Amino acid sequence: MYALLRPLLFALPPETAHAAALGALAIGRPLVRLALPRPPARPRRVLGLEFPNPVGLAAGLDKDGRHLPALAALGFGFVEVGTVTPRPQPGNPPPRLFRLAAHEALINRMGFNNEGAEALARRLERRPFPGILGINVGRNRDTPNEQAAEDCRRCMERLFPFASYLVVNLSSPNSPGLRALQAAESLRRLAGELLDARERLAARHRRRVPLLFKLAPDLEPGEIEAIAAVVSELALEGLVLTNTTVAREGLEDEPLAPGSAGGLSGRPLRARAEAVLRAFRERLGPGPALIGVGGIASGADAAARFAAGADLIQLYTGLVYRGPRLIAECVRAAPPDPRA
Ligand code: FNR
Repeated sequence: MYALLRPLLFALPPETAHAAALGALAIGRPLVRLALPRPPARPRRVLGLEFPNPVGLAAGLDKDGRHLPALAALGFGFVEVGTVTPRPQPGNPPPRLFRLAAHEALINRMGFNNEGAEALARRLERRPFPGILGINVGRNRDTPNEQAAEDCRRCMERLFPFASYLVVNLSSPNSPGLRALQAAESLRRLAGELLDARERLAARHRRRVPLLFKLAPDLEPGEIEAIAAVVSELALEGLVLTNTTVAREGLEDEPLAPGSAGGLSGRPLRARAEAVLRAFRERLGPGPALIGVGGIASGADAAARFAAGADLIQLYTGLVYRGPRLIAECVRAAPPDPRA
């Protein structure tokens, strides 16, 4: 079915196509259930949570949690919404999403367009999500890095009751200066404050919600070493590896339009995202949960990411090029729960 739909979607500008696909999915949900192979059950326990399968939707496709029932019907084991900021913000002016079809890649500079934490909370109050829901939070564009913790804390405070796990996004290339928060010293301070906030919230709500951090693929070995030391020191529960890259390796033959600055995702990101995940797993040992994301476009890619040390994986750009059948293909490629 997706083979028929894809040419129609690709005739539209990418942002319109993503919205159209999500809209069609909402209307055609019963049809989707009939037409798509249900992924086999591959339950696994990660972060203290029972995942029906280890293949999730990456942050950024459903930033405001508008399409959760439709996305769950596709067979994901979990869904991550966001990045959401405390105040609503429009993001960058369009065009801000570009297709590189020959490379099965996207470049985006969306810039955290989202309706804000309050709108997401209200939507989740009206329509609680029955599955595993990750909520990805970040600072507003105009908030200085020194106050980033406060922005994240406000989002956590409002969204804590609805989250199965929380992710602090430190790695979008489209919020100026954001990635500097990954530097070991900044991370130690920020993560320390947010862990304290999480403990207070856990006591208030009598429920533990794991707190993860999402990192960029553009880290040097020395930076990985330093960050891993902080992860161990603070006993962080997990990392999401990785966000989009600012590198353009693999695109040497692509005449990139001037002004196509932004984060690159999809096939050209795969090797880099996998290498960063492997490097963290080697340094961290089996303790922290690692969610592998970046360029996964086949069952073989999924198997390789698990072999590199991922407990869970996420998809985004692969879905755009391969369609929702990719989900079941990746679930089938997942090894049995090693912790079972
Ligand atoms: C993203 N991604 C992203 N990540 C995040 O933490 N917060 C966000 O708001 C967004 N927004 C976003 C928008 C668009 C259009 C894309 C393509 C991507 C990054 C995404 O979650 C993922 O980390 C990367 O895209 C790499 O995975 P794929 O796409 O190669 O499977």
